[in-house]
Amino acid sequence: MEIIIRPDAAAAVDLVSSLLAQRIRRQPDAVLGLATGRTMEKLYQSLSRQALSFRQCRTFNLDEYIGLPADDPQSYRHYMQEHLFSRTDIDTRNTHVPDGSASDLKQAATQYEHAIQAAGGIDVQLLGIGEAGHIGFNEPLSAIMSRTRDKCLTPTTRRQNASMFGGDVERVPRRALTMGVGTILEAREIILLATGSAKAAIIAQAVEGPITSMVSASALQLHPNCKVIVDDEAASGLQGREYYDFIFDNEPEWAEFRS
Ligand code: F6R
Repeated sequence: MEIIIRPDAAAAVDLVSSLLAQRIRRQPDAVLGLATGRTMEKLYQSLSRQALSFRQCRTFNLDEYIGLPADDPQSYRHYMQEHLFSRTDIDTRNTHVPDGSASDLKQAATQYEHAIQAAGGIDVQLLGIGEAGHIGFNEPLSAIMSRTRDKCLTPTTRRQNASMFGGDVERVPRRALTMGVGTILEAREIILLATGSAKAAIIAQAVEGPITSMVSASALQLHPNCKVIVDDEAASGLQGREYYDFIFDNEPEWAEFRS
């Protein structure tokens, strides 16, 4: 795992945007694992402003609320359409979001796993992190080997996401269909983006704490190619900052991003 700390949220977003743009230019048919949430809004804005073609990319989103049809304004399918798909030349037939309104959720979950495999697996998985440590909607006690399945959301997550439902926590669905931690760990590369002081404590636990299913993001410590990109505020609970900064300032792979 590599931790990269940028001075503010805009710089952290810029770095992730540049890394993804580089990848898409190098591999135009990349299979991208995508996330939703407030953190990603700025990232998708930045990505869609770049001179970049998504024409051949294939995408798989992490999760979807159960019970919200794709055209519901609060569904993640709708979010993706609004924030990324409609702003790029991506072919929507190549985009996948778990089907949270399927009548048979087990079957929908199995089909999602098969679709990822049929696409050759995920090249780069983009992640945010929830305040209770979830990646996707893998809430505490999600097995590290879990696969796509339906999951009950925590009260913390429902409160965190209430702002997307007009501030009314009761309107936030109670369950979601989500890729599992095991599914996420199979991506060839992972980039987690977190900004703001509300993420400081959980970033410290995920990165420097023990690997535990109580903090799903801590399982990323097992992944051989995982970058955690944070702003100064989200980094404020990290003990090893001197070393992380030293890596960014010295490793050749980061040279082009140092100014
Ligand atoms: C959303 C997702 C979640 C979010 C996380 C952070 O698809 O998978 O894990 O990335 O809840 O959300 P924000 O950015 O709104 O704090």
